[in-house]
This record gives sequence, C-alpha cells and structure tokens, in this order.
Amino acid sequence: MIQNLFPDAPSQHAREVDFLFASLVAFAGLLTLIMGFLIIRYLIRFRVGTTHSRSGRESHDFRLDLIWTGTAVVIALVLFGWSARLYIDRNRPPPDALQITAIGKQWMWKMQHPDGQREINSLHIPVDRPIEIELASEDVIHSFYVPSFRIKQDAVPGRATRMWFTPTRTGTYSLFCAEYCGLEHSGMRGEIVVMEPQEYAAWLDAQPQGETLIRRGERLFTALGCSGCHEGDGPIEAPNLSGLFMRPVGLSDGRVVIADRDYIRDSILRPERDIVAGFRPVMPSYGGLLDDPETMALVAYIESLAEDAP
Ligand code: CUA
Repeated sequence: MIQNLFPDAPSQHAREVDFLFASLVAFAGLLTLIMGFLIIRYLIRFRVGTTHSRSGRESHDFRLDLIWTGTAVVIALVLFGWSARLYIDRNRPPPDALQITAIGKQWMWKMQHPDGQREINSLHIPVDRPIEIELASEDVIHSFYVPSFRIKQDAVPGRATRMWFTPTRTGTYSLFCAEYCGLEHSGMRGEIVVMEPQEYAAWLDAQPQGETLIRRGERLFTALGCSGCHEGDGPIEAPNLSGLFMRPVGLSDGRVVIADRDYIRDSILRPERDIVAGFRPVMPSYGGLLDDPETMALVAYIESLAEDAP
C-alpha cells in the first residue's frame, strides 16, 4: 500500500528513503494518537465538578520521569543514526561506479561520460550499475534533483559535490534543477534514460567521442605550467604527482592526510594551506584562476596518474 503513495522507486536508495519516511510518519502518527488520547482522557477526568486533585505534586514519580526521558532520547538517537547512515552512504560512491560529471550552467545541465561523450539536459546510463555523479557549477548554485531516485544534491560554485545511486529498472526519469538560479530556472530540466548495458554500450559507440576529462586536465597541466615543476627537471622542486592519488601524504605540520580528490583539489586552489613535508611553500594559488570544470579536469588527470604509477 505504501508503494502507491510514493512516486516510482527504481533504485535501492529510493526504497530505503521511502521506508525511512514511512516509518517517521508512522511514528509521528502514533505519538499524535497517544497525546490526543491522554489529552481527552484528562479533560474528562479533571473536568469542573470532579473531586480529583489537580496539583499532581503528591503523585510525582522520579523513576517515571527517567523512563520517558530516556525512551525519548533513545528513539531520537535511533532515528538520527538511521538517517545519518543513509545520508553518509549516498555520499560515498563504491570504487567501481561509473563516473559521470554534470555541470550546471544557466540554464542547462552539461553531462560528460568517462570516454568524453557529452550530452545536454539528458543522461544515458546503464541499469544495475552504481552511477557516481560529480557536480560542479559554472555560475550560480543549481541543484541536481531526480525525484524517482530520491536524490538531490546542490552544485555549488567553488566546491566539488558528488552523490551516487544504482538504477534498478530501465526507463526515462525526470531531472530538475531544485535551486532557484535565475530567470529560466523552471526550464532547467532534463531526463535520465536508464538502458540495458548492451544498449548503453551501443549508444556510447554512436556518440562523437569528444575530449575526455582526463585529456583536458592533461592539456591544462601543461598549459598552466604545472608540469614545469611537478614533472622533473625544472629549477623548483615540487612533489611528484604520479601515484599520489589515495596515498598518504606527510605535511610540514606533522599531519598525515590521504590524497583523495578533495585533498588534490584543495592543494590546487589553496596550496599554501597544506605544505608537503620537505618542500618549500612556493606554489601559487590557482583559486581565482580556474573555473570549476577546469579544476575538475585537473583533479581527474592527477587521479589518472595513479594508474600508470608502478
Ligand atoms: Cu539551475 Cu535552478
């Protein structure tokens, strides 16, 4: 019965979100019933003309206080833990997820597939495979919202955000922008087309290839002069980036961090914050120079260097 009250749920995540939502409504409904019952009961019991004492003092029970306070705290913690687990899980894509980038721009979504195929306002993906969507914006805040998958994530200028889901049924699902972003906000919609894996492969083959994110990052890496210091023989020594991704890095203040995407991104935009142990703080900040899609491409390139490393 619950299924009929919600929109179609063609992903595991959607079913879990619906179950959480239904449980919250059921719990709140139960509380409302209990409170309503007690209010009416006491209205009748202590109505004008009855002889019951209304002070309540002589019947105070400290143990009872403890029990209902404790129960309420436990219930609140369970609900918190349950929803936090779902939320955290949604932000941690499995390593084998298909990596899609979606860039919000007034007023369209620009999607890119791993091999460089691009589309605007539509996204073709295979069924039963985790899909990771990395979001960026070229101008203002947008929000990537697919009601059927119960996912919504803001694309914020200056930040990389991501989310993932696994579609479990083929079909076409609506995509909306869920953050007011200007005059044509309401027209910033698109569709997600979930296909059988072999159909998806055929669809990919039929698209013009385009420049991949990694290739674009490599081009920027040379054009911006990163390669001058980070690849070898220049006058300034800089950390070697091959094999860096997901390895521990010792910093000059003694901290050790894992070089994940966020670390690499921060190191490009604000290199003065985390100086690698043994190196001088000479790298200029690229914070004001790169737009988000460019930063994303550079990070993808540096990430790809890990695969070639011994
Ligand atoms: Cu983009 Cu609203």
